[in-house]
Amino acid sequence: MSRVSLTRFLIEQQRECGNLPPQLRLLIEVIARACKAISYTINKGELGGVLGSLEQENVQGEVQKKLDVLANDYLIEANEWGATLAALASEEMEAIHPIPHRYPRGEYLLVYDPLDGSSNIDVNLSVGTIFSIMAAPEGSAQRDVTEEDFLQPGRKQVAAGYALYGPQTTLVLTFGSGVHGFTLDREVGSWVLTHRDMKIPAGNREFAINASNERHWSPEVRRYIADCLAGKDGPRGANFNMRWTGSMVADIHRILTRGGVFLYPWDKREPNRPGKLRLMYEGNPLGMIVEQAGGKAFDGHELMLDVQPTTLHQRVAVMMGCAQEMDQIMKYMKP
Ligand code: AHG
Repeated sequence: MSRVSLTRFLIEQQRECGNLPPQLRLLIEVIARACKAISYTINKGELGGVLGSLEQENVQGEVQKKLDVLANDYLIEANEWGATLAALASEEMEAIHPIPHRYPRGEYLLVYDPLDGSSNIDVNLSVGTIFSIMAAPEGSAQRDVTEEDFLQPGRKQVAAGYALYGPQTTLVLTFGSGVHGFTLDREVGSWVLTHRDMKIPAGNREFAINASNERHWSPEVRRYIADCLAGKDGPRGANFNMRWTGSMVADIHRILTRGGVFLYPWDKREPNRPGKLRLMYEGNPLGMIVEQAGGKAFDGHELMLDVQPTTLHQRVAVMMGCAQEMDQIMKYMKP
């Protein structure tokens, strides 16, 4: 069987589905190229001098890893000059980054988490890059884009994806007509289509949650997890398994591949904060992928993709995965 490269796949999608304008196709290819560079850099590890932390915090108040900053720089450098973007925003940068005036501006806005799960880097576990693409507002070629322009609900994303740097490097993409996975062939330096039209399998009783926060959860979440833990003899009448990688992108990839659900719910450690994870960098792009793979994404009150963002770095409670299990969770969460 002949191998389908990312380029060929995108060109064929453009031709057959008509939902992939040339500028969006180019943007996806450029992001994929930057992810390739990030993958090679991560792979060098200690030999490349890229492990460890810097003595500085990001806008989220988290100590930055060297690779957080490197990955962020790769994505900016790759995307600034291509005439596909009007501006970009990163979890690692406080303010949006409009495309400098020396380059032509394009029709899209890019939002990304350059390295999700970065506490995994130094212990050689999976990390990933997550991205979300939206249309830039009309007239943004003539005026400076503002933060407000980015505050679009996830439903308006035109594409989303992630690269997972694990035992293999994989790229998972959606532009609104299914979810497709590619594996990096390191010898050739090419992304090869390996998972066409991914769908979250039903029936896998596996949940991902940081159980060390149990005492802080809401009564609804405690009841759901307690019922799962009660196993075959409990109200759910089945045994459940638990997995937690510390990297949402890796947990979502597992769910896409073999089913289950992921939860990072609101908890009372910081009652005024809706959750730990970020709506624009994690909730929305991974929510779009999960929905496109037949699953559901929920913030505890409404569907993730319907949440109206009010600030770029806003937090959100996250529950997403297999549709059947999400229906159960949504029943538990009903007031
Ligand atoms: P970061 O990228 O800042 O390391 O955060 C990772 C996120 C997410 O990927 C993961 O599911 C979660 O934080 C892990 O949180 P805990 O530290 O509570 O395990």
